[in-house]
Amino acid sequence: MSKFLVKKTDELHGTVEIDGAKNAALPILAATVLSNEPCKIHDVPNLSDVKEMCKLLEHLGAQNMRRGKSVSVDSGAVNNFVAPYEMVGKFRGSFLVAGPLLAKYHKAKVSLPGGCPIGSRPIDLHLKGFAAMGAEISHENGYVELSAKRLKGTKLYLDFPSVGATENIMMAACLAEGQTIIENAATEPEITDLATFLMCMGADIKGAGTDTIRINGVRELGGATHTVIPDRIEAGTFMAMAALVGGSVTIKNVVCEHVKPITAKLKEIGTEVQESEDEICVTRKKELHASDIKTLPFPGFPTDMQSQFTTLMSLVSGTSIIVETVFENRFMHVGELRRMGANIKVEGCTAVIEGVNALSAATVKATDLRAGAALVMAGMCADGDTVIEDIRHIDRGYYQMEKKVAALGGKMERI
Ligand code: EPZ
Repeated sequence: MSKFLVKKTDELHGTVEIDGAKNAALPILAATVLSNEPCKIHDVPNLSDVKEMCKLLEHLGAQNMRRGKSVSVDSGAVNNFVAPYEMVGKFRGSFLVAGPLLAKYHKAKVSLPGGCPIGSRPIDLHLKGFAAMGAEISHENGYVELSAKRLKGTKLYLDFPSVGATENIMMAACLAEGQTIIENAATEPEITDLATFLMCMGADIKGAGTDTIRINGVRELGGATHTVIPDRIEAGTFMAMAALVGGSVTIKNVVCEHVKPITAKLKEIGTEVQESEDEICVTRKKELHASDIKTLPFPGFPTDMQSQFTTLMSLVSGTSIIVETVFENRFMHVGELRRMGANIKVEGCTAVIEGVNALSAATVKATDLRAGAALVMAGMCADGDTVIEDIRHIDRGYYQMEKKVAALGGKMERI
């Protein structure tokens, strides 16, 4: 199993180019199932989760091929409506094919996604939405079976603005009869990007990006070409890394609007952030100071940036309090950071961080993709050689992170 070797880095300088957003590419690839014409998607990040989704599409009968950063999908020949455990269990984003299969082929048999380290990750809101649209739902042997002659539009309210549930229901509603209104919908930029793609295919959607989305069902959807938005979490990760290590880093291919909560927090603690068209320059010369963070659904501070900021605040003098409100178990990185000398106490969904001057290198384990990024950042500030194991988690969310870090002067290699 490969690992990352990370050494102390004094400063970072240079430019990093951000890839397309994983959490936009995955639902968009699932959405191609709705069409019986070829689709072409550009800026698809070359990540293991994306590879798993492409394998699942092949399994369903949707031929797909990657050429560089583009993936073309021809789902005209979908002839299998089962997403098996060995695929879904490995990667829960594959549950996003449930809505498209149900809407287009009136049936779907999808393995219930396993739990995952950051929380139980239920799919009750997805199923509630499908049931409200008239789907028959049964559970057996760890699979959920969905069927419906034709889904009927309805008005539904999400108990929590779930990203995945909003995406699955919105995709299903595109081919339902009549209008579907999703209230308390998620407003993440990835929802808007998916809606843009669906509208290119001929869907009739209004309000994506707000908490109320109206979808008027149509008879069929055609092919489309689309470029995925930049990954705001990869961008945020490098912004936090630059603030932590010091120096000056230019992040290219970023939508400033999408990283506003991260920019605001970095400025608040004393980092210089200059924004231009599609670039952000992060410079840190002086001491940073403590601040509190509470993760919230968009446009609040993103849960996917919590681990990285836990590392950042661990090395900022003073007391910082981080509250994780989105997932119930997303502090696994804290145990590993404490082994490196961080002073963090976790009580329920709250972490109280007392800044320390330095960390000491250790062999640590990545427990989820963002926790892994947090450990890389910690290794860059630790005396000695930090070895990070289970880096498959990191590869799920970051393409060749070691190359991007090394290009900025960071001491990181895959061993
Ligand atoms: C998406 O996961 C992202 N994944 C996650 O990114 C991200 O952390 C999360 O949204 C929140 O922004 C993808 O887009 C592939 P949710 P998702 O449904 O859709 C509860 C990463 O780092 N919930 O918004 O699974 C759930 O338990 C990954 O790239 C229900 O209770 O997130 C959680 O507590 C990690 N019932 C909360 O809602 C449901 O039916 C948020 O989940 C669905 C969700």
